[in-house]
Amino acid sequence: MIQPKAYAPFRYMGGKNMLFDYLVPPNEGLPFTFNKYYEPFLGSGAFFFKLVQNDMINERHRIYLNDIRSELIEAFLLIKNYPKSISREMVKLWKTHCQKQFYKIRNILHNQENELNDKQIGLAFMYLQRYSVMGLGNHTVVDSTRIRGGRDKHAPNCDNYLAVSKVLNGYNVELSCNSFRKIPITQKSFYYFDPPYWRASTPYGYKSESKSFNLQDQYDLKKMCDKIDKVGSKFLLSNSNTEMMQYLFKYYNMWTFKGTSTNYHPPGNKPSHKWSADSHPELMVRNY
Ligand SMILES: C[S@@+](CC[C@H](N)C(=O)[O-])C[C@H]1O[C@@H](n2cnc3c(N)ncnc32)[C@H](O)[C@@H]1O
Repeated sequence: MIQPKAYAPFRYMGGKNMLFDYLVPPNEGLPFTFNKYYEPFLGSGAFFFKLVQNDMINERHRIYLNDIRSELIEAFLLIKNYPKSISREMVKLWKTHCQKQFYKIRNILHNQENELNDKQIGLAFMYLQRYSVMGLGNHTVVDSTRIRGGRDKHAPNCDNYLAVSKVLNGYNVELSCNSFRKIPITQKSFYYFDPPYWRASTPYGYKSESKSFNLQDQYDLKKMCDKIDKVGSKFLLSNSNTEMMQYLFKYYNMWTFKGTSTNYHPPGNKPSHKWSADSHPELMVRNY
């Protein structure tokens, strides 16, 4: 048995680390069994590692982890294959971290003419995630990544890189870099979808929908959920609590919550309110 102490190896916008209990209420767990687990919008993998920590996923499952961002998948492959050398490199970068170094690495990653190898891309991605505002930004779009302030007293957690590597090597995990549309629909499977949100909220109010994930993508994802339901598999999906999302998934079980707030509406309680800035921004949908 692998020691499942691993957690998400980098910060990520929309990371689900703190929200696991809202997504999988502790008194319910996952009330079904499955052979295959799919996470097509992996991000930092926070949800997946929580499932591992809670032994809801283990060596018996086939696991498919996917994201469309190639540098993110590169980072996972690096941690999987070279956890010790990545730890050393990240500690080196931590020791020399300063504004100049941050913008230099950001510009190198941005500059397509610089032929970086896969290892350098993965490492640059992990470094920029650690030090950019809210862990966000498309590092290949230079102006979207800014350095965050404050001192970084804690060295990178090398034990966690080792633990992540153990899970990725010891479990039956396949990492891929594709559109969610390429993910197969199979029986006896569990899918967790955490796509870019429809009109995601920010601390400054609502921003318009993600340019890279438009309404057609949201519709197509809903159709995929219908197919999953039809073959008897299970899905759980996170999105923004908007009228559009409520309408799209109206025949499924929905519940809402306010991020890390304790104001939690259990599954089965259909959201009854209209959207307003002070209501719950998160909508969860599932077919179980
Ligand atoms: C909200 S984030 C996922 C956060 C993740 N659950 C976590 O805890 O860190 C959405 C992810 O979807 C990915 N993505 C966007 N469009 C996609 C597409 N068409 N197919 C697959 N992944 C996509 C983004 O790169 C991003 O990593």
